[in-house]
Amino acid sequence: MKENMLPYNKPNINWSEIESWDRKYYLHNTQAQNEYVFFPIEAVDKNYLYLPDGKRLLDFQSQLVSDNMGHRNQRVHDEIKMAMERYGHIFFGLCSDYRAKAAKLLINDIIGNENWAGRVRILSSGTEAVENAMSMARLYRGASTILTQELSYHGLVPGATQLDGYRGNLTKDTFSNESHDVPGFPDKRYVNIPAPEYSDYINKGILPSLKETEKIIKHIGSSNIAGIITETMFGGASYMPHTDYLKGIYDLCKKHNILWILDDVLCGFGRLGEWFSYQIEKNIYPDLLITGKGLNGCALPVGAIITSREIGEFFDKARWWSGSTHDAHPLVCASIVGNIESMIENDIIKTTRTKGKYLHNKLLELKYKHPCIGRISGRGMYYSVDMVDLNGEPIIKDDRKTRFTGNLSNNPNNIFANFCIENGLFAGGFMPNTIKAAPPLTISIDEIDFAIDIMNKAFTYIEEKFH
Ligand SMILES: Cc1ncc(COP(=O)(O)O)c(C=O)c1O
Repeated sequence: MKENMLPYNKPNINWSEIESWDRKYYLHNTQAQNEYVFFPIEAVDKNYLYLPDGKRLLDFQSQLVSDNMGHRNQRVHDEIKMAMERYGHIFFGLCSDYRAKAAKLLINDIIGNENWAGRVRILSSGTEAVENAMSMARLYRGASTILTQELSYHGLVPGATQLDGYRGNLTKDTFSNESHDVPGFPDKRYVNIPAPEYSDYINKGILPSLKETEKIIKHIGSSNIAGIITETMFGGASYMPHTDYLKGIYDLCKKHNILWILDDVLCGFGRLGEWFSYQIEKNIYPDLLITGKGLNGCALPVGAIITSREIGEFFDKARWWSGSTHDAHPLVCASIVGNIESMIENDIIKTTRTKGKYLHNKLLELKYKHPCIGRISGRGMYYSVDMVDLNGEPIIKDDRKTRFTGNLSNNPNNIFANFCIENGLFAGGFMPNTIKAAPPLTISIDEIDFAIDIMNKAFTYIEEKFH
């Protein structure tokens, strides 16, 4: 791409100076300093990331399956700019028009017809929403235990970490195969239930994971359990559970009178082809719905909790001493308003379904060509593709149970990602054998075709390396 075609004015930045400051002062996560890869991005726009050398990358994973409406979405940015004419920050004891508008859009306009949702609280991140939802469930139920799925991901701070398979563990040096949990893990108030079966599991009767979950509920006693927190399509572990699972969890919660806390931070706002992931099934509604990411497409840091009517009424009567300086920040609320209005105006859920089907078919075509492609699972605009050896087994044996030790640059996901980056595509994932295809919902068919062409070549490269 020529510089004069850039969608921004080229800034005068000394990138080698920036690199030296970044390397010297910033505390990088997930990489040790000796393996840290400096990856500068000069600007983002629509579905692309722009590098200082003038190249651009098509973002095929929406960053962390988060930037749903493309980068610097015009409508969202206009709304934030307008809000900045009147607002900076005000605290939660005061109300901006944007806070009330965002709440009305969420509770009334999007899901009002379902008649289950009571209130919404807007926060600064998905993790913060998860943490608050745990407290709300415990206060409402008067019980402390939270059941949480193996392999799930809900954030990486000490509380949310207790919910995760990927639990803030530390590998002390890059040559070590040892990994250490944050001390205090596991907290007995969090109990693992089995991870759901994969989408291609051949099921006869009740899923084994659900049978085992019911045993655990009976063993602990439902009066001691506040709720079960679940992901629908897993974000960290990147797979879509078996179709019997979601309804099965809901039924268990109802049968045993425990709360269903649905963490829809990643799957909400069109990602799975619905506003929210529980809508995949008919007539099942969560007690607490946690959202973030797609709520404003990450134009600003965001998270939120939507309560059922009953839980809303419980907190209506109460004086709950909770809050953060950044609760319902007016600029964040403006970004939510801009994002939801633009999703409604552009009928994004419907177009996501059509374009998502196209993407899924293209991925299935790749599977016929490539023996290194195993399971493909997903829905809407989020698919995961597992890479396998010649026997159809995971190339890296730990697979989704990885503790991120050893030389990660040899893992298929990273080799795949680097090949794609060399060829103008930003695609990959954290699991060693799995890549995500989760572009912004604003992706065009031509852009999907471009990505599939690069992925086709990348899978050939994986076969050359591992088969
Ligand atoms: C399902 C799920 N829950 C919670 C979180 C944490 O959200 P945040 O990163 O906004 O704190 C994430 C982030 O990836 C997620 O995927």
